[in-house]
Formats: sequence, structure tokens, C-alpha cells
Amino acid sequence: MIRTRTLVVSPDAPDPDAIAEAADVIRRGGLVAFATETVYGLGADATRDSAVRRIFEAKGRESTNPLIVHLDSIESVRPVAAVWPHLAETLAERFWPGPLTLVLPKTPRIADIATAGGPTVGLRVPRPSVARDLIARSRVPIAAPSANRSTRISPTLARHVAKDLDGRIEMILDSGPTAVGIESTVLDLTSDPPIILRPGSITPDDLAPFLGMRPEIRGQSGLARSPGLATIHYAPRTIAYRGTLDDLDHRILPENTGVLLIGVPYPKLSRAFPHRIELLTSDFAEPAFYDALHRLDELNLAAIFVVAPPDAPCWTALRDRLIRATQPLPK
Ligand code: TXA
Ligand code: MG
Repeated sequence: MIRTRTLVVSPDAPDPDAIAEAADVIRRGGLVAFATETVYGLGADATRDSAVRRIFEAKGRESTNPLIVHLDSIESVRPVAAVWPHLAETLAERFWPGPLTLVLPKTPRIADIATAGGPTVGLRVPRPSVARDLIARSRVPIAAPSANRSTRISPTLARHVAKDLDGRIEMILDSGPTAVGIESTVLDLTSDPPIILRPGSITPDDLAPFLGMRPEIRGQSGLARSPGLATIHYAPRTIAYRGTLDDLDHRILPENTGVLLIGVPYPKLSRAFPHRIELLTSDFAEPAFYDALHRLDELNLAAIFVVAPPDAPCWTALRDRLIRATQPLPK
């Protein structure tokens, strides 16, 4: 057990002393959880094998699943990629800082373990000052997966991080809720044409003008997969099903079922569900989704039932996460 320290910092003007302390932990090879605009990340020095290994240990993550490396500016990303195509520059100027990860050939500066031994690396510049100040002050690229135990729900609050990782990491920088709430869009620039490995709030339509085509989402017909992703990836402890409003009204569900309705208002049902959360629009649902799952999970209910949003483009990223967090209601 390690003693995990939580430092509360302002998201807009983080206390430089707190950032300096956190950077010191990173420089010594330790682990710091910090907010990006998407989810909290579990950061370590990406250039140091032993530091990155600790991320995998703390999360219980398979060593075959590569990590995203975070930099504080476009200028500092260029030297970390072995190749920096014109397209990368164009996308970086348009979308960074922001929730877009670009997969490019890696340089030896990044520890092999961070990329699961592979020749490519996922790179991004996060938006919040806390994240960028921490990276700048650490003076190293920071490898950071989402700050949850592997296969558990991603964290959008420091409290979610502590639930999973208290006693396993040195520090949590608590700067409040993350704004976007769904992990970054991962775009592979090493494939021709580029392909989306994980959908996020930056959509194929957002990227199309820069790519000259609308990129495909890998495995969209089934589950969107990045290497090493297990099928159930963001699961609550409580058994969690997904289905339709009709299922909610007509199928037999345990007495004590928590209900999460996404993209549809709570209708008049033959039976009322006292524990329910409604997330009506995608703009509102994305930042609130993981917290809703955490909250229902904490109630120790018999089951969670999620009414899935419509199969429309604005719901693509959230449907991807939902499919990995829940199972279809058995026939
Ligand atoms: O928004 C995010 O991306 C958050 C914040 C903390 O930045 N990070 C995050 O990391 O979601 P993680 O480790 O939970 O997910 C990283 C995803 C995985 O699906 C991984 O397989 C994929 O990115 N990935 C990372 N490096 C890759 C690479 N070189 N090639 C292909 N996929 C890669
Ligand atoms: Mg994750």
C-alpha cells in the first residue's frame, strides 16, 4: 500500500506549488492521476520503463494494450513522432489542445512498454491547464491511460479515481469534473486511408474536411476495437444490461433495478423505477455518462438497465462505450 495524497487545485489557475509537487512525483518515476478534458488520466514518465510499468501494475492492465502519450504543445509532440506528416500538422493545428489522439510511428525516446512493444504511439495534447502545466513542469512526455482499474468504469471525477486506485498511486490532482467525459477519438495516421480506432467527441464528419474523406470507424459493424481491448471494458460491478424502452416496460427485471435512460425521456411505464437517471441530449449525456454509471453502481442494486440512445451519428461515441459497459438483455 502506498499513501495516496489528493491535492485539490483550481482548474483555471492551478497552484504552481501543487503542480510542482506532482511533477516531482512524475520525475521520480511515480504515478499521478490528473484531469484531462475527457477523463482523468493515470500519468507516469513515458520515457522511463520502470515508471510506465507501474501504470500497468496499478491498473491491472494487460501489457499488450498500448498507452496514449500526452504532451503540452504541438512543438513538443513533433520530436516524439518518428514521422510527422503534413496531415498531422493540419489536424494538430485544428484540434489540439483537444480530445484527438493521433497514432504515428514512435521514436526510441518513448519507452517500448508504453506502446506495448509496438512501432507506433498514440499522441495527444490535452486541453486543461492542470494537465499541460503538469507535463511542462515534469519536462517529460506523460503516458496516461484512463485512471481506473482495468475493465472498470472510467473516471470523470477525482472521487472515481480514488475508489479504484487509492493506495496504489502516489497522488491525485483533483481539479473537478472533466468537461467532455468520453475518451478521446483515436485516429490511426499510419494506415492509408487513416482510420478511427476509437470514436469520441471529435466525429468522422469533423475530420472529413481535413482527410478529404469521411474516415471509417474500425469494427463499426460490431464493436469498435483498439488493440488489447476486452469486450467488456467499462463495466460497473452491478450486472448491467442494455435494451429498449419496450424491454423496460415488458421484460421481467429484478425488483431493485437502477435505470439509465439515454436519449429518451422517462415514459409512463406499468411499473415505476425509483432509481433512475435521464440523459436526454448527447451534449449533456457524454459528460454525465460515466458518473451516472458510477452512481447507480454505488447503490448496490440488483441490476442496472440502460435504455440505449438512437443509432444516430451524434450518439456514436456513447453507444460504443455503452456496448462495452453492458450486456444485451438475455432473450
Ligand atoms: O481521452 C483519452 O484518450 C484518455 C485520457 C487520459 O487522455 N486516455 C485513454 O487511455 O482513454 P486508455 O489507455 O484508457 O485508452 C487508450 C486507447 C486504447 O484503446 C488503446 O488500445 C489505444 O488508445 N491506443 C493507444 N496507443 C495506440 C497505438 N499505438 N495504436 C493503436 N491504438 C492505440
Ligand atoms: Mg480506459
